[in-house]
Amino acid sequence: MSKIKWIKASQILDSRGKPTIKVKIELESGIKAEASVPSGASTGSREALEMRDHVKGIDRKSEDYDGYGVKKAVENVNNEIAPDLIGFIKKNKLDVKDQDKIDQFMIALDGTPNKSRLGANAILGVSLACARVAALENDIPLYDYIAQQDKAVCKKYNRKYDEKELSVRRMPCPMANVINGGSHAENNVDMQEYMVAPYGAKDFHEAIHMVFKVFWRLKEALHRDGHSTGVGDEGGFAPNLSSNEEPLKYILEAITEAKYKAGEQVFITMDPASSEFYNQKEHRFGNRYSLSDQEDLITSEKMIKLYAQLLEDYPEIFSIEDGLAESDWAGWMEMNKQLGKKIQLVGDDLFVTNKVILERGIKEGSANAILIKLNQIGTLTETLETIAYARENGYNIVISHRSGETCDPFIADLAVGVNSGQIKTGSICRSERICKFNRLLEIEDELTDKFGKKPPFGIY
Ligand code: PGA
Ligand code: ZN
Repeated sequence: MSKIKWIKASQILDSRGKPTIKVKIELESGIKAEASVPSGASTGSREALEMRDHVKGIDRKSEDYDGYGVKKAVENVNNEIAPDLIGFIKKNKLDVKDQDKIDQFMIALDGTPNKSRLGANAILGVSLACARVAALENDIPLYDYIAQQDKAVCKKYNRKYDEKELSVRRMPCPMANVINGGSHAENNVDMQEYMVAPYGAKDFHEAIHMVFKVFWRLKEALHRDGHSTGVGDEGGFAPNLSSNEEPLKYILEAITEAKYKAGEQVFITMDPASSEFYNQKEHRFGNRYSLSDQEDLITSEKMIKLYAQLLEDYPEIFSIEDGLAESDWAGWMEMNKQLGKKIQLVGDDLFVTNKVILERGIKEGSANAILIKLNQIGTLTETLETIAYARENGYNIVISHRSGETCDPFIADLAVGVNSGQIKTGSICRSERICKFNRLLEIEDELTDKFGKKPPFGIY
């Protein structure tokens, strides 16, 4: 394996037109690769720090890119991480495929618990670029390289590793976000994501075809009723609707119009992202949820009741993510007690891909699934550690994009590499979402050619 020749970061734009970071790397063999880092809008407060140039106390609009620039993070890569990491690798006779040591080195170099000195965006860019260039140098697909790293992480941390399941690559079922609300759209829907998930598909190609049919039938239904069919940040439609329930009615109609059986072939999943409407107006009896279609501010108990009712009315709902807020631990425990046997309850802002926070959730019985976002934690290795720990504890895994994305399809390979069984990467609209789906279509073809049959699909 050859040594790293150079690492260079630069500032590019994400799908919202805001700056983000791209890292390029070249090995002495001449092999080059790059990776870019996404960015959230409804971020969890315990996420690793995304470093931006904004100086506190200064009017944003007087700054370059209104303070959203990532020049500091770029400089941190170019002036500190790159020279120090290259030196560390040389001195210790390592090479670029020592992902664990590379990531641990950057974590130590940063020296803070949330990567706030160098920036999680700076560190993640380097971590992912290293993985990609190592896969190229080894002449193996990135998903296979990630699978090897997954196995190595399980071995190092003594995590259960199901050889039979994990040595075969599995395609993830997409959760396609067809109606956007909350912080991802300018409409009046409070809940952030209404998704369709074709768990009943036999393979990924069929799953995408099913999403296509539902997406277009949904567009027609919205258009028929005079609603806007403009899209939100994740490529789903963003109409103004009369309640947070109405998107479910439209999606159900679209599934039926597409001639699929809802709840058998195509399911509904939701991400209310409820931290975004929690505690907005503090109530004298404590924190409350504020939904525009409810008369009053409501408690966790009422939120759980509301979900229980939705599940009665829409048994096609398979999964609810962030149904309660990131700080509402007692509420999560109760919600999991009441609903966790019926549906998948995914912690996103709750766990922020952080193994230590997930430990609490597992101890308290908070949920039964975790959303995985690389930039919530900031290195590939830590992400794999969290996945291994979640898997060992029987949690479902959902690999996820961010609402601000680039055309880097890294998460497609991540989902296949760890056999997550599920991926959330937006609607079948907007190129920064489509590129992940296209990469997955390509991977499925590649695996089919290699093994002479379609790879397994969906949750195992
Ligand atoms: P974000 O949203 O990327 O804006 O944080 C995605 C999600 O909540 O799942
Ligand atoms: Zn979420």
